[in-house]
Amino acid sequence: MEKKRIVFDLLIFEDEGELSQNDRKLLSAAEAARKNAYAPYSRFKVGAAALLENGEMVIGNNQENASYPSGLCAERVAVFQAGARFPGIAIVSVAISAASEEHVTDVPAAPCGNCRQAIMEYEHKQQSPISILLKAEKGPIFKCNAMADILPLAFNSSFLGDS
Ligand code: THU
Repeated sequence: MEKKRIVFDLLIFEDEGELSQNDRKLLSAAEAARKNAYAPYSRFKVGAAALLENGEMVIGNNQENASYPSGLCAERVAVFQAGARFPGIAIVSVAISAASEEHVTDVPAAPCGNCRQAIMEYEHKQQSPISILLKAEKGPIFKCNAMADILPLAFNSSFLGDS
C-alpha cells in the first residue's frame, strides 16, 4: 500500500522584531483593523490585512449580524475586497490578528475552514502561494508559507474540469 505523508512548516517568531519589514507592516495593519471589528455578539474581534503584488494593502475585520450566519469573517472581508478592488492582482500574504474581549490567550487563532477555502481559491487562481501570519493580542507570531499547507487536499476548480 502506498502511503503519503503531508508535512508543513509552521514558523514561530517570538515577536515582531523577528519579522521582515513587510510582514511587520501587514501585521500592524491587521491589528489596527481588529480594533474596528463589529463583533457585539461574540466579542471576538478579528482583523485581517492582505498585501498585494502591486504593493497595495487591503484590510478587513469581522462583521457580525443579529442573524448570526449573515455575518462574515475578517479574512473574507479582506480578500473579497482585494478581489473586488484589484481584480487579477495576486495576493502575496495575509496577516490575521484575533482577540477575545473576554478570554485572553497568547495562542494565535487560525482561520476557519470557510476562510481557508476562500483564500485557497485565490492561491489556486494566481498559481502562487499566499503566506499567512497569525497573532493573538500578545504572544508569538505563527507564519505558514502557503494556504495549501494548512488546507491540504483542497477542493478547487480543477475538479470541476475548468483548468
Ligand atoms: N472569525 C473571523 O473573523 N475569522 C475566523 O477565521 C474565525 C472567526 C469571526 C467570526 C465571528 O464574528 C467571530 O469571529 C466568532 O466566531
